Amino acid sequence: MRVLAIPGSLRKSSYNLMALRAAQKLAPAGMQITIADLRGIPLFDQDLRAGGDPAEVERLRAQVREADAVLIACPEYNASVAGVLKNAIDWVSLPPSQPFDGKPVAILGASPGLLGTSRAQPHLRQVMSCLNTQVVNKPEVFIGAAQTKFDAAGELLDAPTADHISGLLLSLQAMVARRA
Ligand code: FNR
Repeated sequence: MRVLAIPGSLRKSSYNLMALRAAQKLAPAGMQITIADLRGIPLFDQDLRAGGDPAEVERLRAQVREADAVLIACPEYNASVAGVLKNAIDWVSLPPSQPFDGKPVAILGASPGLLGTSRAQPHLRQVMSCLNTQVVNKPEVFIGAAQTKFDAAGELLDAPTADHISGLLLSLQAMVARRA
């Protein structure tokens, strides 16, 4: 089972990227998680699109299409989805082939704040609903105080967080299996 993991942050020391790297290590048997890279995706501009989708957008669209499921790490900016992530989703959501259609999706998020992206994730669920994905409802994974959960090398230190991520991956795997 191939899972495409999308980090909604571009920075090298992103907690959301760290969470996806942790998910790679926690993946259950039979699941392979590949992490996408949103760098190079321009701000959406319909005039730019008229000349053809940029290569970075084509690549992400193909990655989403070919994956059995998608895992999104959702940073929270001003109590909502970070613009980098929303911009990338908007690009790949356009016709003629909307690759998220019917796709199983799991969401997690990390932030230094105590609420751990719990205000942004419902907004992302709404977007994913618009794209007709199947979103895993439980468990919800809010990684608050992220600076205390990962070490300087980006390794996940917190056992309860690891358990939550594992539970999310198992739910995603079960969702894909139910569709098979
Ligand atoms: C933030 N941050 C933030 N955190 C949060 O928990 N709730 C919020 O509403 C916001 N708002 C916000 C706005 C802007 C413009 C910035 C730049 C940051 C902090 C944010 O969670 C933090 O920078 C994370 O580290 C971003 O995720 P990555 O890059 O670590 O994955």
